[in-house]
Amino acid sequence: MKDICKSVVKKDHDPKIKGETRYLVDYNLTDKGERILCGKLLHSPYAKARVLSVTVPDLPEGYFYIDKTDIPGDNNVNIVLDDTPVFCRDTVEYIGEPIAMVAGPDEKEVDRILSEIKVEFEELAPELDIRNGTKNFFEYEFGHGDVEKAFREADKIYEEEYLTGYQDQTYLEPQGMMAEPEENGVMYVHGSLQCAYYVHGAVMRALGVDASKVHIFQDPTGGGFGGKEDFPSIIGCQVAVAAKKANAPVRCVFDRREDLEFTPKRHPSLCRYKVAVKDGRVTGADCEVIFNAGAYSTLSAVVLQRGIIAAIGVYDIENVHVTGKAVKTNTNPCGAYRGFGAPQTFFAMETMMSHIAQDLGEDSIEFKERHFVKQGDTTSTSGRYHFPVPLPRMLAQVDEMADLRRKHKEYMKAQTGRYRRGIGFSAVFHGAGFTGSGERDFIKATAKLRKYKDGTVEVLASNGDIGQGVRTTFPKIVAHELNLPLEKVYYNHPDTARVPDSGPTVASRSLMIVGELLRRAAIKLRTIWRDNEEQEVEEHYKEPDFMIPFYLDRFEGDAYPTYAWAVSAVEVELDTYTGLSKILGAYGSFDVGTPVDYNIVMGQMEGGFLQGLGYASIEKMNYDNKGRIRNNSFTDYLIPTAMDVPNLQVKLYVEEYPDGPYGAKGAGELPLVAPPAAYIEAVEQAMGGSKRHKLSFIPFSAEDVIHELNKEVL
Ligand code: MOS
Repeated sequence: MKDICKSVVKKDHDPKIKGETRYLVDYNLTDKGERILCGKLLHSPYAKARVLSVTVPDLPEGYFYIDKTDIPGDNNVNIVLDDTPVFCRDTVEYIGEPIAMVAGPDEKEVDRILSEIKVEFEELAPELDIRNGTKNFFEYEFGHGDVEKAFREADKIYEEEYLTGYQDQTYLEPQGMMAEPEENGVMYVHGSLQCAYYVHGAVMRALGVDASKVHIFQDPTGGGFGGKEDFPSIIGCQVAVAAKKANAPVRCVFDRREDLEFTPKRHPSLCRYKVAVKDGRVTGADCEVIFNAGAYSTLSAVVLQRGIIAAIGVYDIENVHVTGKAVKTNTNPCGAYRGFGAPQTFFAMETMMSHIAQDLGEDSIEFKERHFVKQGDTTSTSGRYHFPVPLPRMLAQVDEMADLRRKHKEYMKAQTGRYRRGIGFSAVFHGAGFTGSGERDFIKATAKLRKYKDGTVEVLASNGDIGQGVRTTFPKIVAHELNLPLEKVYYNHPDTARVPDSGPTVASRSLMIVGELLRRAAIKLRTIWRDNEEQEVEEHYKEPDFMIPFYLDRFEGDAYPTYAWAVSAVEVELDTYTGLSKILGAYGSFDVGTPVDYNIVMGQMEGGFLQGLGYASIEKMNYDNKGRIRNNSFTDYLIPTAMDVPNLQVKLYVEEYPDGPYGAKGAGELPLVAPPAAYIEAVEQAMGGSKRHKLSFIPFSAEDVIHELNKEVL
C-alpha cells in the first residue's frame, strides 16, 4: 500500500465525536448575535390545482408572509432547465409544492399563521403514473451496430420489464438553509448543502443581483448522498427572498416528515429490455429506459444520462439501441441519490443477463463473465474503455471470500423445507466524474492553495465534506506533496467569498478531479516555496488528451475518462413461511483505484453496500392515489440500521488511474450500485430460480416474497 493510503484521524473527527460540531439548527443567534426568524413553508395539499386566491390572516408585528410576488429577480431556480419555481406559479404541480413561506420569531406562532392561511384551489386531475407521463422533459437516443439485424438473426429473443421504486437519501440532518442580509446589500446564505456554487447561481438569479452581492457558505453537513445537490438551491432562494423582505435572518429547516415527503429522491424507473441471443451469446440489446422525473425537471437530465449510459451494463454487445425518457408526473420532483440513475439500469441489465443465462441452462456467473468488456472495447456511447478492466480478477476475489461459484451452482438445485438459500452475483461500473462533457464545458474547475507566512497552507476549493472525508483527504494530498505534517494543511468549509469554483460535490468527482488539481498545485507551490511569505497557486481542469470528446447532441464519445468497478455477491437464507430473508453474507470487491485513505474508502464501500441492500429489500416508499408520499417517517420508511449490517466483507482491488491523484478514481457512489441485482438473484435462487419465479422489481420485500410464493400454491 502506498504511503498516501495509510489512514489518518479525520480532521472533523474530534468535534463530531464530542458533539461540538454546530449544525444549522444548533444555534439561536447568528454569528453577529442577531435573532433568527423561523421560516416555514406552506405546502400544496393537491397534486395538481390552480391557485385561485390566498387569504392571509392579520400578521402580528415582526411576522412576514412571502410568496412569488416578493421575488425581486426571477421565479425560476437555476438548475438545468430552470422550470422549478421558487414559490409556485398559478398552479401547483405536486403535493408539497411550496406556495409561500411564513417567517417570524416564534415557531408556534408561525405554525398558527400557516394553519390560518386560506387557499382557494381549483382541483385539476393529476397524472401520477410513470406510464402516462404528461410530457418528456428529456429524451435521448443512441446506439451502435444494427439491432434490427441482430433480432432478425437471433436464435432467441428475450423481452422483460423492470421496475424500481423511490429511495430516499435519509441523511441524518434534514434539509435546511438560512439567509442573512449583510451590509452593502449582500445576501449571505448558508446551510446544509453539497454545491455552494449551485446555490450561489440560484440565489443570484432569484434576487436579481450580480455575483458579488451573494455569498454562500456550507455549514457542517450531516450527510447528503445526492439529496443536497439541488434542493438547497430551492430552499436557499426561499430563505433569501424571505430575509430580503423581512430584512432579518431567516432560517428554514425541514422536519423529518417534510423531508421524507417533499424533498428529492431516487427516480422510480421502468425499463423495457429486448435482448437477442445467437449461439449462446448476446448479440443485440434494445433498451427503453423511463424515469419518473416528478413535477419539475430539476436534475433529471443528468440523472437520466448516467442511467442510460449504463443501460447495457458491463457487457460487450455488438448491436445496441438505447432510448431514455424522463417523464413529467404530478409527483415530487426526483433528484440525485448516490449512483445517480445507474442503480436503476444496472438492476435491469444484471437481472436480464441472469434470467437469460438460466433460460439457456448456463450458470449466470459464467454467462456474464463471457460477456465482460475488456480494455480497448467500445462503450455503450461509442467511447472506449481506455484502461484495464479488472472484473475477472475481482470476481476471483469475491469467489474466494464467498465460495461463490460452488454455492451458486449448489443453490440452483431444487430445495425443499422452510429455509432455502440463494447466492446472487452482480458486476457493475461507475463512470468516474461528471457525465459527458460536463467537466470540460460547464464545470471548468479551478482549485487553489494559499500558503501563509507561518508556513500553514489552506486548500481553497468548493467541494463540501458531506461525510466522505474531503476535509481530510484534500489536505492529505497537499501535505504529502509539500512534505508537511497534516496539521499544517487545512481545508475549511467552502465559502464562495473565499474559494474558487472547483465544481459541485457530486458524481464521485471531488477526489479524482479536484484532488488531482490540488496535487498539481502543491507540486507547483513546492517549486516556488519561499519561507515567511504569503503565496498562492492555482490549477485548472484540463480534459485528458486520451479522451474521445463527448457530444451530447449525438450522445457519443467517452462519457467518462475512466470507470470504477465493483463485483458483489449476496447470500441469503429465505424463510418461506415469513418471507424474511436473512443475509448470510455480503461480499464486495471494489476498484476505486488507489484509496487516498484506506479507512475512509472502506467506510464508503461498506455504507454504500448497505444502502444498496436497503434499496433492494426494505426501502419501500410510494404515494397514495392522490399523489401523497405515504412513507413519511422512519416507522413507515425502513432503512437498514446498524442492527441490519450483515456479515459484510469488502476488499479493494487497485487498478490505478494515471490522471487521478496517486491513481485514485471516483469512489463515493460505486458501492451502492452492485448489491441490488445480487440480492434479487439470491432471493430468486432461494425461491427456485427464474424458471419458477422471475423477479423483476425492487424493493422486493418479505411481503413480496410471500405474494410470489403464494402464486405457486394457487
Ligand atoms: Mo451525486 S448522487 O452525483 O449528488
